[in-house]
Amino acid sequence: MAITTTIKHVGEYEGQAVTLQGWLYNKRSSGKIQFLQLRDGTGIIQCVCVRSEVGEEVFERGAGLTQEASVIITGDVRKDDRAQGGYEISVRNIQPVSPSEEYPITLKEHGVDFLLDHRHLWIRTPRQRAVLKIRSEVERAMMDFLAENEFTRVDPPVLTPSSCEDTTELFHTEYFDEDAYLTQSGQMYVEAACMSLGKVYSMGPAFRAEKSKTRRHLIEFWMVEPEMAYCNHETNLQVQEQFVAHIVSHVIGHCSDELKTLGRDISKLEKIQAPFPRISYDDAVTWLKDHGHDIEWGDDFGAPHETALADAYDKPLFVEKYPTKLKAFYMQPDENRPEVVLCADLLAPEGYGEIIGGSQRIHDYSLLKQRFEEHNLPADTYQWYLDLRKFGSVPHSGFGLGLERTIAWICGIEHVREAIPFPRLLYRLYP
Ligand code: 4AD
Ligand code: MG
Repeated sequence: MAITTTIKHVGEYEGQAVTLQGWLYNKRSSGKIQFLQLRDGTGIIQCVCVRSEVGEEVFERGAGLTQEASVIITGDVRKDDRAQGGYEISVRNIQPVSPSEEYPITLKEHGVDFLLDHRHLWIRTPRQRAVLKIRSEVERAMMDFLAENEFTRVDPPVLTPSSCEDTTELFHTEYFDEDAYLTQSGQMYVEAACMSLGKVYSMGPAFRAEKSKTRRHLIEFWMVEPEMAYCNHETNLQVQEQFVAHIVSHVIGHCSDELKTLGRDISKLEKIQAPFPRISYDDAVTWLKDHGHDIEWGDDFGAPHETALADAYDKPLFVEKYPTKLKAFYMQPDENRPEVVLCADLLAPEGYGEIIGGSQRIHDYSLLKQRFEEHNLPADTYQWYLDLRKFGSVPHSGFGLGLERTIAWICGIEHVREAIPFPRLLYRLYP
């Protein structure tokens, strides 16, 4: 009896018969011998089917297999140092499960729109599979780090009555007789929760109706948002650099095959260790001017500015203390310079842009109330958030890390659309 296993584990059965359940990735054949590349989600293995060994009937079943046909193959595990993964299967039996005719994604190059239209199939290819695997490990690394550091996970609502970041980017929907919006960020809710649990985080989708069509923007993306009571700006940055360094080192340790499939230069990732360099917004503007960029104090950075700044370092770069007027209403002003806030953006190396936005939050009731007025935010929908400053308010800080930008950077892929299983892009809701 052959043991049913997966390609990842065949090495444990050298010299024995195994059964593998998968899909045909590719094949080469001559009249006497077929080389069937089987994939099963855990890897790809070559199954060698010899006519004189398996007999006419089994050989013909193999010959009938087409790309992405599902199939169960039984055979003996043979060590082969030339093979990808180090093993091959000498086929004994082939059981076709379901056919796959005229599979649209061939092994040649396809255009991006075609691939996005076929995203449900595109995810089967080795590169896309590798990205999804790394995404899963990034999520695991984040949860491990946060659990080890005694953060409690709290899940905020997706349907909200108000905006967190920017009122122009809200997705509107109806909530019976009321207006509702899809969440832009769980931050306000984790701020409430940290006053109950101390250190908390949320992880889930965020929605931004941004009309941006760049390699860094998704309409629906995922964010992890840690929030810490009794935490200042300085400690907030330390947590962030440790968090990011942990994620990268976990991926290096657990995804070497996937990084190889993607052709990622691992030496670049190995440099990602805490502490990370820091530059103030003021100094960043001066540096940009000195390097020929057209920018003035008070201007927001565009992608070219961020890329230029980040390119000067081989680790992620914190840019801290932005002008108050550029940032969200809830950020704590610097005590000595109220024109800047205690915030930081973390810019990834290699042009991947801002992967984290974070800040110390305003904890003073009257200052926050004043900000609501300055930003024309309706007092009634935010009353609960103000309440937090009325009942035992404390300095607190937190941040939001965008999963897809972080994953795109770690994987070294060009665009965030490949870092999420089914991307929601400007004018793309299918599949
Ligand atoms: O800088 P943002 O807007 O910050 C917040 O939402 C805060 N409320 C987070 C917090 O302090 N709890 O977004 C945080 C991160 C960005 O740095 C970026 O990585 C990612 O979320 N992000 C996007 N990723 C993909 N597509 C988009 N449209 C994104 N917008 C933000
Ligand atoms: Mg931001």
